[in-house]
Amino acid sequence: MRVGSPWHGSAKSVGGNGGRPGRSGCRLIGVGSALPGLRVTNRDIELFLDTSSEWIESRTGIRERRVAEPELTLLALAARAGRAALEAAEIDASQVDTVICSSSSPDATFPSLACRVQAELGCPQGPAFDLQAACSGAVYGVGLAQSMIQGGLSRRVLIVAAEIFTRVLDWTDRSTAVLFGDGAGAFLVGGPDEAGAEILAIDLGADGKGAWALDTVRFSAAPDLAARSRPQYATSPRALDRVVQMNGREVFRFSTKVLEQIVVRLAADAAVELDQIALVVPHQANSRILATAAGRLGLPFQRFACNVDRMGNTSSASIPLALAEAAQAGRCRDDELVCLVAFGAGLTWGGVLLRWQPTPVGVDDPLRFESSSAKAGEEEAPAQGQEEVSA
Ligand code: ACO
Repeated sequence: MRVGSPWHGSAKSVGGNGGRPGRSGCRLIGVGSALPGLRVTNRDIELFLDTSSEWIESRTGIRERRVAEPELTLLALAARAGRAALEAAEIDASQVDTVICSSSSPDATFPSLACRVQAELGCPQGPAFDLQAACSGAVYGVGLAQSMIQGGLSRRVLIVAAEIFTRVLDWTDRSTAVLFGDGAGAFLVGGPDEAGAEILAIDLGADGKGAWALDTVRFSAAPDLAARSRPQYATSPRALDRVVQMNGREVFRFSTKVLEQIVVRLAADAAVELDQIALVVPHQANSRILATAAGRLGLPFQRFACNVDRMGNTSSASIPLALAEAAQAGRCRDDELVCLVAFGAGLTWGGVLLRWQPTPVGVDDPLRFESSSAKAGEEEAPAQGQEEVSA
């Protein structure tokens, strides 16, 4: 514990932007995701790190994660997710006037990933910029997109959250290396006249006093780096030569509290009962955080989308990745409430409450037909169905 931490003990309710409802009901008109093709299980990591599959799974819920192949670039992964959203929505890149990207694992400070994605996809020369809100980046992007559309600055915004987090890890640090994975997700946001899930409320916030709990530090190779032979992904050069450092317990406290408070605030802003929320799609940090938050909210855990077991923590990509998977598994039903909830370094947090309407979803996964994800989606659906019967 750190003295003065607002997340310890009975912390006061966190602030935010006052929970301004999405006045004009902008729409989520497309969702996309893209994954690398390398699957790394806990057992694979056991071979070169002092950890165990059981420890990782019992403390985090993670069984495996995707890792970028050495030749895969962040730009290529981001562009695939953006393209998946555009193709699913049958919208040409020329009809997207703003591109916003989020990455906690950028490979350069500039030019922005967004400028490179804009050029790669062939979007016109409207605004393109990156935002930095760590794991909350995709949700912050939806808030910005809505503001730009409402303010008349934009008509359609593509938000791409892309992470090759395995390149900002110290692969000799077992307290962080086992947690993260790679992937990208995209949201396409349009005005109220378009078809898609309606944005009912958005809540964004940050508390810079908690910055110390999760940050990056200059990488210095551990003395035993060469002691065990390592797979290539665990020796690759660290992007910007910095690696993740985290106070896990402090982040745990923060995450469980803020997740609960955002959902409560969004429900109040939209004047709906908590129990009306059919699906919560939280940032996929750790299944214990999600289960604790579900308990605090009094919602059945089956109402939480959870793919951290197969994806690990993909930082800002995790919410669009989980939403794409949940929607494809039939877990987002028309007219039901779907709540996206993010929290991350900064400390930052954000939430979006959606009233689901048919929304095109595109998934670009090279392992799709051999992956367990489709099976897991099928397994989750009956659980939700059971919950509906008893609700
Ligand atoms: N394998 C085996 N042992 C480990 C590992 C590992 N990978 N990592 C830590 N340990 C050991 C520690 O060395 C320590 O050993 P010791 O008691 O001999 O000193 C013991 O396990 C307990 O360490 P803690 O850090 O206290 O472990 P804790 O029970 O808090 O679990 C965890 C760590 C899982 C990270 C937990 O704090 C947590 O869930 N935090 C939430 C943070 C999180 O999930 N962050 C994700 C990124 S942040 C974000 O996305 C917002």
